[in-house]
Amino acid sequence: MRVLVTAGPTREPLDPVRYLSNRSSGRMGYAVARALLRRGHRVVLVTGPTALRPPRGAAVVRVETARQMLAACRRHWPTCDAVVAVAAVADWRPAWAAPRKLKRGGDAPRIELLPNPDVLEALARTKGARCAVGFAVETEAGRAEALRKLREKNLDFIVLNGPEAQGAARATVWLLDRGGAERKLGPASKGVLARRLVTAWFGRRASAAGGRGARKPKM
Ligand code: CTP
Repeated sequence: MRVLVTAGPTREPLDPVRYLSNRSSGRMGYAVARALLRRGHRVVLVTGPTALRPPRGAAVVRVETARQMLAACRRHWPTCDAVVAVAAVADWRPAWAAPRKLKRGGDAPRIELLPNPDVLEALARTKGARCAVGFAVETEAGRAEALRKLREKNLDFIVLNGPEAQGAARATVWLLDRGGAERKLGPASKGVLARRLVTAWFGRRASAAGGRGARKPKM
């Protein structure tokens, strides 16, 4: 299969030297890309800025903002069989980015925010029989919220994790599917988690999972 993976944070500019972002390191997304490649899948990795070296063999598209991530994903989605959205997309962006560095002195600037597009939702809306996987970071009412996102974004699976997973080397996650099945994975390194998740989503062999519309393995 050819799998579109989103990873890392997005950066939403305030001026040429400042931005809004989050704590995502990109580790989980890159680990998922690496695990997919090991299984023989092809990977298009659309990534926000990270300090990581992308896995060899992935087609890498570097972006900064949520809107750039959406545009890049839209370009590649028609040729992909599945999407795994691991990116921590900034939910809001400054309504206006100053063309020159904002200077100190006088009143502090008031920052108006606008909502960003939901990249995963936009792709999953047109997925047909293709597979769409999301990741949910929740601090409270985790399961219920993750299940709501699974339904509302038209996903096949959602991986639930706590905010402590952001930037950490190890994590515990819960894999939830549309049928209500739930599985706890970890604590383990993100590499190990990614390999287990790829098996749960697509089976053990790239060819076994087939192309579009292939039957998904049972959890
Ligand atoms: N996602 C996305 N584009 C966004 C927001 C989220 O593609 N603008 C994707 C993430 O990559 C993830 C899933 O949607 O796979 C859930 O992200 P999360 O941040 O947990 O949820 P939100 O939909 O942003 O909801 P909230 O922040 O209110 O919990």
